[in-house]
Amino acid sequence: MKSVQWHDTHITILNQQALPHKTEYLELKNIKDVWDAIVTLKVRGAPAIGMTAAYGLALAAKSYETDDLAQFHAELKRDRDYLASSRPTAVNLFWALDRLMKSVAHAKSVNEAKTTLIHEAICIQVEDEDVCRRIGEHALSLFQDGDRIMTICNAGAIATARYGTALAPFHLAKEKGMTLHAYACETRPVLQGARLTSWELSQAGVDVTLITDNMAAQTMKAKRISAVIVGADRIAANGDTANKIGTFGLAILAKAFNIPFYVAAPLSTIDLQTKTGDDIPIEERAKEEVTHIGGVRIAPDVNVYNPAFDVTPHELITGIITEKGIIFGDYETKLPTLFEEVFA
Ligand code: MRU
Repeated sequence: MKSVQWHDTHITILNQQALPHKTEYLELKNIKDVWDAIVTLKVRGAPAIGMTAAYGLALAAKSYETDDLAQFHAELKRDRDYLASSRPTAVNLFWALDRLMKSVAHAKSVNEAKTTLIHEAICIQVEDEDVCRRIGEHALSLFQDGDRIMTICNAGAIATARYGTALAPFHLAKEKGMTLHAYACETRPVLQGARLTSWELSQAGVDVTLITDNMAAQTMKAKRISAVIVGADRIAANGDTANKIGTFGLAILAKAFNIPFYVAAPLSTIDLQTKTGDDIPIEERAKEEVTHIGGVRIAPDVNVYNPAFDVTPHELITGIITEKGIIFGDYETKLPTLFEEVFA
């Protein structure tokens, strides 16, 4: 079961807004459908957003009628900018779109460019599966059989091509016959932890316990949580990490309880152009996400502040787990080395 799939005339996505009640696939037939699915969180999670946008751009380009390369590039740039306007925080969105733009910079014909875009988008998805598996293997090296590990939001298989980032060690542990106990924070306001992580892990046969967000401190203490692992939407050059709202609070609690706090993310989430967390744009979403749950109003019509992400300062992060390995501390020096090619 794939969260995103290319079908030549359309893209299918697993509708993450319908979970856990319904396992429903939606067909995205044009660029507007793609933009809308990203904005409304039908597809979500940094790598899945990047993959979907890449397919969306390839799909849009397929429909261009021009044979003129300059005109093709102008239309492509317009559509790249439109898709880039869907969500501001996850850098994978811009990374994937720009990777597609670069792939056709030297195309010799419109037809060649159209084929290249599709090929490049498929490569992003295929590579992500391998990347996530590697992240999972590295993450697993940090854990012992029987560990109790807390997470927030959903950085799982449905947010990536497969396995997930923060959830990859749980899936791999299961494959290898090792037991890891997951503690999933429900993740208000949109409940990615309750609706998605607890669904995904229980479907996979992983032992998962759901808590509300305000139970994190008590759970760390009473259940002797071994570690916290979270995904990321953007990691700045100094290691400051934007992830789902509530992550920063968990990092502070982990520090108070002397529990390791890990960030698991692919290189495509590391943004060396963004110097510190203060430079990461934080998405603010509609007030109804806070005043309502499942379409039912739970609060009067008052002012609401609804940041979708927060930034965990690098000094609270024990290690950053990537497909190239784990780095501990001094992120400013070590993050750029991950991008260096290793020649055997
Ligand atoms: O608003 P969302 O649900 O897209 O936020 C998702 C997260 O914060 C994830 O932790 C992150 O994108 C990593 S997904 C592998």
